[in-house]
Amino acid sequence: MLQTTNSTLGSGSEPGQTTSTSTLMESRVGIRNTSSRYGVIAILLHWLVALVVIGLFALGIWMTGLTYYDDWYKRGPDIHKSIGILLFFVMLARVVWRAGNVTPEDEPGTGSLQRRLAHGVHLLLYVLLFAMMISGYLISTADGKPIQVFGLFAVPATISDIPNQEDVAGKVHWYLALTVIGLAVLHAAAALKHHFIDHDRTLKKMLGVRSQPQPSDNTDQ
Ligand code: HEM
Repeated sequence: MLQTTNSTLGSGSEPGQTTSTSTLMESRVGIRNTSSRYGVIAILLHWLVALVVIGLFALGIWMTGLTYYDDWYKRGPDIHKSIGILLFFVMLARVVWRAGNVTPEDEPGTGSLQRRLAHGVHLLLYVLLFAMMISGYLISTADGKPIQVFGLFAVPATISDIPNQEDVAGKVHWYLALTVIGLAVLHAAAALKHHFIDHDRTLKKMLGVRSQPQPSDNTDQ
């Protein structure tokens, strides 16, 4: 490991102390995850998906209350569908990025049940989000027509012969949405508990907040 003195680095530590250049470099949030923090891409993808999922839920509830004569009666669902399709591609990118990156270790002191619960909720969120997008696609294409994504491209209908497809997929979509939002609230509460009660770095890692370099920082899988 490279060792340099503090006079070279210009940091405010005690003279004579040695600091690792590579460790200091790693104290910045990088593009990729390390064993102790999320990288910029994972952080941006997490918060983008969180915002979009909450936004789509709000839009979905609002638009189902509109009447035929409302200006947004058609525009609301068109936007909801278009964003849902784009979210599908973002989620694919997220899964690929996750598979090619190390996952940061859990904070020391986290019990094994808590770890298993947290990882289970993360996995469920991934699976349910995909199930939600697929059920949304099946509602929209039940009539055999493609989905127009902001007039930029169309996603063709593939399966349109399930009996009562629109109603069945609609019910599945609604209950999945409720489950995802319920899990997301639980998940956010756990993140806030880590931050305000346990005072650990779980939330800071997902916010990209810098902290002391970790001896275990590396990008090895
Ligand atoms: C709909 C909203 C949300 C969804 C779908 C979601 C989904 C996820 C998923 C799938 C992970 C696992 C990341 C991975 O390892 O690949 C994760 C991690 C995380 N999320 Fe969320 N999230 C949402 C909202 C939030 C909110 C509102 C907060 C904070 C208040 C939050 C805080 C965190 C933190 C701190 C982690 C890292 C947990 C750890 O390292 O153990 N999330 N989220």
